[in-house]
Amino acid sequence: MSLWNKHAIFEKNSIVLVLGIIVVVAIGGLVEIAPLFYLRSTIERVEGVRPYTPLELAGRAIYVREGCYNCHSQMIRPLRDEVERYGHYSLAAESMYDKPFQWGSKRTGPDLARVGGKYSDEWHVAHLSNPRSIVPQSIMPGYPFLATAEVRPETVAGHLPTNRVGGVPYSADQIAKALEDMRTQVNPESPNVQAFQARYPGATVRNFSGGTSAAAGTVSEMDALVAYLQVLGTMVDFKTYDARANIR
Ligand code: HEC
Repeated sequence: MSLWNKHAIFEKNSIVLVLGIIVVVAIGGLVEIAPLFYLRSTIERVEGVRPYTPLELAGRAIYVREGCYNCHSQMIRPLRDEVERYGHYSLAAESMYDKPFQWGSKRTGPDLARVGGKYSDEWHVAHLSNPRSIVPQSIMPGYPFLATAEVRPETVAGHLPTNRVGGVPYSADQIAKALEDMRTQVNPESPNVQAFQARYPGATVRNFSGGTSAAAGTVSEMDALVAYLQVLGTMVDFKTYDARANIR
Protein backbone atom coordinates (compact mmCIF):
# COMPACT_ATOMS: atom_id res chain seq x y z
CA MET A 1 0.00 0.00 0.00
CA SER A 2 1.51 3.30 -1.06
CA LEU A 3 1.56 6.29 1.26
CA TRP A 4 -1.18 7.95 -0.81
CA ASN A 5 -3.66 5.23 0.10
CA LYS A 6 -3.29 5.99 3.81
CA HIS A 7 -5.77 8.87 3.57
CA ALA A 8 -8.41 6.22 4.31
CA ILE A 9 -7.22 6.34 7.94
CA PHE A 10 -8.21 10.01 8.10
CA GLU A 11 -11.46 9.56 6.26
CA LYS A 12 -12.69 6.72 8.43
CA ASN A 13 -11.79 8.26 11.80
CA SER A 14 -13.18 11.73 12.49
CA ILE A 15 -10.92 12.36 15.52
CA VAL A 16 -7.80 11.73 13.42
CA LEU A 17 -9.27 13.92 10.69
CA VAL A 18 -9.86 16.80 13.14
CA LEU A 19 -6.30 16.44 14.51
CA GLY A 20 -5.00 16.48 10.92
CA ILE A 21 -6.96 19.65 10.18
CA ILE A 22 -5.61 21.35 13.32
CA VAL A 23 -2.03 20.53 12.32
CA VAL A 24 -2.52 21.91 8.80
CA VAL A 25 -4.28 25.09 10.00
CA ALA A 26 -1.58 25.61 12.65
CA ILE A 27 1.13 25.55 9.97
CA GLY A 28 -0.84 28.07 7.89
CA GLY A 29 -1.36 30.22 10.97
CA LEU A 30 2.33 30.20 11.89
CA VAL A 31 3.33 31.24 8.38
CA GLU A 32 0.99 34.23 8.63
CA ILE A 33 1.50 35.19 12.26
CA ALA A 34 5.22 34.64 12.89
CA PRO A 35 6.39 37.46 10.52
CA LEU A 36 4.26 39.96 12.48
CA PHE A 37 6.66 39.63 15.41
CA TYR A 38 9.47 40.92 13.18
CA LEU A 39 7.42 43.75 11.70
CA ARG A 40 9.46 46.47 13.40
CA SER A 41 12.55 45.47 11.50
CA THR A 42 10.78 45.77 8.14
CA ILE A 43 9.40 49.29 8.63
CA GLU A 44 12.04 51.81 7.62
CA ARG A 45 12.90 54.60 9.99
CA VAL A 46 12.30 57.82 8.07
CA GLU A 47 12.46 61.51 8.85
CA GLY A 48 9.58 63.85 8.17
CA VAL A 49 6.48 61.67 8.37
CA ARG A 50 3.98 63.47 10.62
CA PRO A 51 0.28 62.91 11.34
CA TYR A 52 -2.10 64.72 8.96
CA THR A 53 -3.27 68.20 9.90
CA PRO A 54 -7.01 68.55 10.68
CA LEU A 55 -7.53 70.10 7.21
CA GLU A 56 -5.68 67.26 5.43
CA LEU A 57 -7.56 64.73 7.53
CA ALA A 58 -10.88 66.31 6.50
CA GLY A 59 -9.73 66.11 2.86
CA ARG A 60 -8.86 62.49 3.33
CA ALA A 61 -12.35 61.79 4.69
CA ILE A 62 -13.81 63.42 1.55
CA TYR A 63 -11.48 61.31 -0.61
CA VAL A 64 -12.86 58.18 1.08
CA ARG A 65 -16.47 59.42 1.03
CA GLU A 66 -16.37 60.18 -2.71
CA GLY A 67 -14.81 56.79 -3.46
CA CYS A 68 -11.72 58.19 -5.20
CA TYR A 69 -9.99 54.94 -4.18
CA ASN A 70 -12.21 53.05 -6.61
CA CYS A 71 -10.16 54.48 -9.46
CA HIS A 72 -6.90 55.56 -7.79
CA SER A 73 -4.30 53.55 -5.88
CA GLN A 74 -1.81 55.11 -3.48
CA MET A 75 1.11 52.73 -3.61
CA ILE A 76 4.05 52.80 -5.97
CA ARG A 77 5.53 49.33 -6.28
CA PRO A 78 9.31 48.88 -6.44
CA LEU A 79 9.20 48.06 -10.15
CA ARG A 80 11.13 50.05 -12.72
CA ASP A 81 8.16 51.17 -14.84
CA GLU A 82 6.29 52.44 -11.77
CA VAL A 83 9.27 54.20 -10.25
CA GLU A 84 10.05 55.94 -13.56
CA ARG A 85 6.46 57.10 -13.95
CA TYR A 86 5.50 58.05 -10.40
CA GLY A 87 8.75 58.53 -8.44
CA HIS A 88 10.36 56.72 -5.50
CA TYR A 89 8.49 53.56 -4.51
CA SER A 90 6.21 53.89 -1.48
CA LEU A 91 7.67 53.19 1.96
CA ALA A 92 5.67 51.47 4.70
CA ALA A 93 6.44 54.41 7.00
CA GLU A 94 4.70 56.81 4.64
CA SER A 95 1.30 55.29 5.37
CA MET A 96 2.09 54.80 9.07
CA TYR A 97 -0.60 57.36 10.03
CA ASP A 98 -3.09 56.42 7.28
CA LYS A 99 -6.10 54.82 8.99
CA PRO A 100 -7.18 52.95 6.95
CA PHE A 101 -4.45 53.06 4.29
CA GLN A 102 -5.47 53.78 0.69
CA TRP A 103 -2.97 51.52 -1.11
CA GLY A 104 -5.39 49.69 -3.42
CA SER A 105 -4.54 48.07 -6.73
CA LYS A 106 -7.28 49.42 -9.01
CA ARG A 107 -5.88 52.00 -11.38
CA THR A 108 -8.53 53.38 -13.67
CA GLY A 109 -6.72 56.69 -13.12
CA PRO A 110 -3.05 57.16 -12.19
CA ASP A 111 -1.54 56.30 -8.80
CA LEU A 112 -1.76 59.30 -6.46
CA ALA A 113 0.86 58.33 -3.83
CA ARG A 114 3.19 61.15 -5.02
CA VAL A 115 0.76 63.57 -6.64
CA GLY A 116 1.56 66.24 -3.98
CA GLY A 117 3.33 69.20 -5.59
CA LYS A 118 3.00 67.74 -9.10
CA TYR A 119 0.39 70.35 -10.09
CA SER A 120 -0.68 73.76 -8.78
CA ASP A 121 -3.67 74.23 -6.49
CA GLU A 122 -5.48 75.95 -9.39
CA TRP A 123 -4.92 72.87 -11.54
CA HIS A 124 -6.56 70.64 -8.92
CA VAL A 125 -9.52 72.99 -8.40
CA ALA A 126 -10.18 73.16 -12.17
CA HIS A 127 -9.61 69.42 -12.62
CA LEU A 128 -11.82 68.36 -9.71
CA SER A 129 -14.59 70.75 -10.80
CA ASN A 130 -14.52 69.49 -14.39
CA PRO A 131 -11.77 67.00 -15.35
CA ARG A 132 -12.51 67.41 -19.07
CA SER A 133 -11.62 71.10 -18.97
CA ILE A 134 -8.02 69.94 -18.39
CA VAL A 135 -7.86 66.45 -19.89
CA PRO A 136 -10.43 66.28 -22.74
CA GLN A 137 -10.50 62.44 -22.86
CA SER A 138 -10.81 62.01 -19.07
CA ILE A 139 -13.46 59.66 -17.74
CA MET A 140 -13.10 60.96 -14.18
CA PRO A 141 -16.35 62.35 -12.77
CA GLY A 142 -16.53 66.06 -11.85
CA TYR A 143 -16.93 67.18 -8.24
CA PRO A 144 -17.98 70.85 -8.67
CA PHE A 145 -20.07 70.80 -5.49
CA LEU A 146 -16.93 70.57 -3.31
CA ALA A 147 -16.24 74.27 -3.91
CA THR A 148 -19.46 75.36 -2.22
CA ALA A 149 -19.83 72.61 0.39
CA GLU A 150 -18.50 73.66 3.79
CA VAL A 151 -16.46 71.23 5.91
CA ARG A 152 -18.79 70.74 8.83
CA PRO A 153 -16.97 71.86 11.99
CA GLU A 154 -18.56 69.21 14.18
CA THR A 155 -17.08 66.37 12.10
CA VAL A 156 -13.54 67.75 12.38
CA ALA A 157 -13.44 67.63 16.16
CA GLY A 158 -14.07 63.88 16.06
CA HIS A 159 -11.46 63.00 13.41
CA LEU A 160 -8.36 63.38 15.59
CA PRO A 161 -9.46 61.40 18.66
CA THR A 162 -10.80 58.67 16.37
CA ASN A 163 -7.43 58.40 14.66
CA ARG A 164 -5.71 58.37 18.04
CA VAL A 165 -7.66 55.23 18.94
CA GLY A 166 -6.06 53.69 15.85
CA GLY A 167 -2.57 54.62 17.05
CA VAL A 168 -1.92 58.03 15.48
CA PRO A 169 -0.07 60.05 18.17
CA TYR A 170 -2.21 63.21 18.27
CA SER A 171 -1.53 65.20 21.44
CA ALA A 172 -4.26 66.60 23.70
CA ASP A 173 -3.22 70.05 22.47
CA GLN A 174 -3.63 69.07 18.80
CA ILE A 175 -7.06 67.61 19.55
CA ALA A 176 -8.20 70.68 21.50
CA LYS A 177 -7.05 73.05 18.71
CA ALA A 178 -8.30 70.94 15.78
CA LEU A 179 -10.96 73.34 14.56
CA GLU A 180 -8.77 76.42 14.99
CA ASP A 181 -5.89 74.63 13.18
CA MET A 182 -8.14 73.69 10.26
CA ARG A 183 -9.23 77.32 9.79
CA THR A 184 -5.69 78.60 10.23
CA GLN A 185 -4.27 76.36 7.48
CA VAL A 186 -6.34 78.08 4.76
CA ASN A 187 -5.67 81.60 6.08
CA PRO A 188 -2.07 82.92 5.92
CA GLU A 189 -3.26 86.15 7.59
CA SER A 190 -4.25 84.29 10.75
CA PRO A 191 -2.32 85.17 13.95
CA ASN A 192 -2.22 81.43 14.76
CA VAL A 193 0.00 80.37 11.85
CA GLN A 194 3.16 79.97 13.95
CA ALA A 195 1.44 77.95 16.66
CA PHE A 196 -0.15 75.78 13.96
CA GLN A 197 3.19 75.10 12.26
CA ALA A 198 4.77 74.26 15.60
CA ARG A 199 2.13 71.58 16.04
CA TYR A 200 2.52 70.29 12.45
CA PRO A 201 6.11 70.87 11.29
CA GLY A 202 6.40 71.37 7.55
CA ALA A 203 2.66 71.91 6.95
CA THR A 204 1.91 74.65 4.41
CA VAL A 205 -0.59 77.43 5.05
CA ARG A 206 -2.38 78.91 2.04
CA ASN A 207 -5.76 79.43 0.45
CA PHE A 208 -5.87 76.04 -1.29
CA SER A 209 -9.11 76.45 -3.23
CA GLY A 210 -8.58 80.14 -4.06
CA GLY A 211 -12.12 80.67 -2.79
CA THR A 212 -13.38 83.34 -0.43
CA SER A 213 -14.20 80.92 2.37
CA ALA A 214 -10.97 81.52 4.32
CA ALA A 215 -11.76 85.20 4.85
CA ALA A 216 -15.28 84.27 5.91
CA GLY A 217 -13.91 81.93 8.56
CA THR A 218 -15.26 78.79 6.86
CA VAL A 219 -13.42 76.04 5.02
CA SER A 220 -14.72 74.46 1.82
CA GLU A 221 -14.46 70.77 1.02
CA MET A 222 -12.38 71.82 -2.00
CA ASP A 223 -9.82 73.42 0.38
CA ALA A 224 -9.61 70.21 2.37
CA LEU A 225 -9.33 67.83 -0.59
CA VAL A 226 -6.69 69.93 -2.38
CA ALA A 227 -4.67 70.27 0.86
CA TYR A 228 -4.77 66.48 1.20
CA LEU A 229 -3.77 65.83 -2.43
CA GLN A 230 -0.92 68.35 -2.18
CA VAL A 231 0.66 66.63 0.83
CA LEU A 232 0.54 63.10 -0.61
CA GLY A 233 4.04 61.65 -0.93
CA THR A 234 5.82 64.87 0.06
CA MET A 235 6.68 64.21 3.70
CA VAL A 236 9.86 62.22 3.08
CA ASP A 237 12.73 64.05 1.38
CA PHE A 238 14.03 61.51 -1.12
CA LYS A 239 17.06 63.61 -2.01
CA THR A 240 18.56 62.66 1.34
CA TYR A 241 16.82 59.33 1.93
CA ASP A 242 19.07 56.27 1.90
CA ALA A 243 17.13 53.00 1.95
CA ARG A 244 20.03 50.86 3.24
CA ALA A 245 20.88 53.17 6.14
CA ASN A 246 17.34 53.13 7.42
CA ILE A 247 16.70 49.44 8.00
CA ARG A 248 16.88 48.68 11.70
C1 HEC B 1 -14.23 56.72 -12.55
C2 HEC B 1 -12.87 56.72 -12.09
C3 HEC B 1 -12.35 57.91 -11.30
C4 HEC B 1 -12.79 58.39 -10.10
C5 HEC B 1 -13.97 57.94 -9.27
C6 HEC B 1 -11.85 59.44 -9.73
N1 HEC B 1 -10.90 59.58 -10.68
FE1 HEC B 1 -9.32 60.85 -10.61
N2 HEC B 1 -8.72 60.25 -12.46
C7 HEC B 1 -9.37 59.27 -13.22
C8 HEC B 1 -8.70 59.20 -14.53
C9 HEC B 1 -9.09 58.26 -15.65
C10 HEC B 1 -7.66 60.15 -14.52
C11 HEC B 1 -6.68 60.48 -15.66
C12 HEC B 1 -7.29 61.57 -16.55
C13 HEC B 1 -7.38 62.88 -15.85
O1 HEC B 1 -6.34 63.45 -15.45
O2 HEC B 1 -8.52 63.38 -15.65
C14 HEC B 1 -7.69 60.79 -13.19
C15 HEC B 1 -6.80 61.75 -12.77
C16 HEC B 1 -6.73 62.26 -11.50
C17 HEC B 1 -5.71 63.14 -11.01
C18 HEC B 1 -4.46 63.59 -11.77
C19 HEC B 1 -3.38 62.54 -11.54
C20 HEC B 1 -2.11 62.79 -12.31
O3 HEC B 1 -1.05 62.39 -11.81
O4 HEC B 1 -2.16 63.36 -13.41
C21 HEC B 1 -6.03 63.46 -9.72
C22 HEC B 1 -5.24 64.35 -8.77
C23 HEC B 1 -7.27 62.79 -9.41
N3 HEC B 1 -7.67 62.07 -10.52
C24 HEC B 1 -7.92 62.88 -8.20
C25 HEC B 1 -9.16 62.28 -7.94
C26 HEC B 1 -9.92 62.49 -6.72
C27 HEC B 1 -9.47 63.37 -5.57
C28 HEC B 1 -11.06 61.78 -6.85
C29 HEC B 1 -12.23 61.70 -5.87
C30 HEC B 1 -12.83 62.98 -5.50
C31 HEC B 1 -11.01 61.07 -8.12
N4 HEC B 1 -9.85 61.41 -8.76
C32 HEC B 1 -11.97 60.19 -8.57
C33 HEC B 1 -10.41 58.49 -12.82
C34 HEC B 1 -11.16 58.66 -11.66
